[in-house]
Amino acid sequence: MWKNMYHPALYTPLTDILGCKFPILCAGMGGVARHQLAASVSNAGGFGCLGMVRERPEFIRKEVNLYRSLSDKPFAVNLIPAATDPVLLSHQIAECIALEIRHIVLFWDVDKKTIEQCRNNGIHVIHQVGSRRDAENALEAGADMLIVQGIEAGGHVRGETALFGLLPEICALSAVPVIASGGITTGEALVAALALGAQGISCGTLFLTTTESNAHDFHKEKIISATASDTTLCYDFQRNWPIRAAVRVLKNSITETATHHYKATPEVPIGTQDGAPIYSFSTDSPLTGAVGDLASMALYCGQGCGSVKHIKSAAATITDLMQQADLYLNRF
Ligand SMILES: Cc1cc2nc3c(=O)[nH]c(=O)nc-3n(C[C@H](O)[C@H](O)[C@H](O)COP(=O)(O)O)c2cc1C
Repeated sequence: MWKNMYHPALYTPLTDILGCKFPILCAGMGGVARHQLAASVSNAGGFGCLGMVRERPEFIRKEVNLYRSLSDKPFAVNLIPAATDPVLLSHQIAECIALEIRHIVLFWDVDKKTIEQCRNNGIHVIHQVGSRRDAENALEAGADMLIVQGIEAGGHVRGETALFGLLPEICALSAVPVIASGGITTGEALVAALALGAQGISCGTLFLTTTESNAHDFHKEKIISATASDTTLCYDFQRNWPIRAAVRVLKNSITETATHHYKATPEVPIGTQDGAPIYSFSTDSPLTGAVGDLASMALYCGQGCGSVKHIKSAAATITDLMQQADLYLNRF
């Protein structure tokens, strides 16, 4: 049986609560984490998540149906209330309720009303937080689980603290399961997160590089050849994002030049995504089918990139994480 495959420490209560085999979640990544990736993660024993930030309800329905055509395993939908027009957000939530979604991952400001609405409709709320204050607010609002995001994370970064500083502090105050996120790309880091009180991990950058992710190959290859010091935390990619927010990306011509404020620069298209223009300083990262100056786009990447050496399937990625963790736990 699969419960005997690896060291018992790797089967945390979280796996029973989420209904997955292994304590490994794929982060909700807008554009990148669609049905192919989410279903592959869940089918391999992890917990998949559809990154649906600011997507239309019809698109969410399409992605959920495609997921369900590939997997009967539990999964989550990821939304970001603070970055979404309130009318669109209410339609997204209504669609999730109609689709009988069981888990939602929320991020950024704690939106009490959305959390209540989800819980009143039988949806478990997993809230990603970047500080003790966020965690307290999310718990007070009724979050069923927390994801603690450290400053090492790729993509939008909420807090200012290293994961392993913040994680034990939040585990100590949380009565609900806590999941660690930010810079985790190895089984050894999974063990370290568990040792600090987490019941699982949520990985973005690592799953972005899998064959099933919708990220452009250029982005995957750049991560494969990057080291931790190739990433930077900056405010350079802000266009079409309604709130000022830090992002961790690979350094490029945009992050390394002096003209930082997008408002001071004309709206110049630097490429297209499925026929629609991508402008300089946009938060859109290049997805499959993007063309243009991909090197100047937002190439999100966490600080764990130095250990990501190959593009492989989501299933192989999960097996490697579990085997590395198991080997470490059985080392003596
Ligand atoms: C390409 C990319 C896109 C992301 N998009 C989202 C998103 O849409 N919603 C969200 O909650 N988090 C998003 N994140 C952040 C992740 O939830 C998570 O905190 C982060 O990936 C963890 O760090 P890691 O990339 O080092 O694993 C994104 C991260 C990446 C790398």
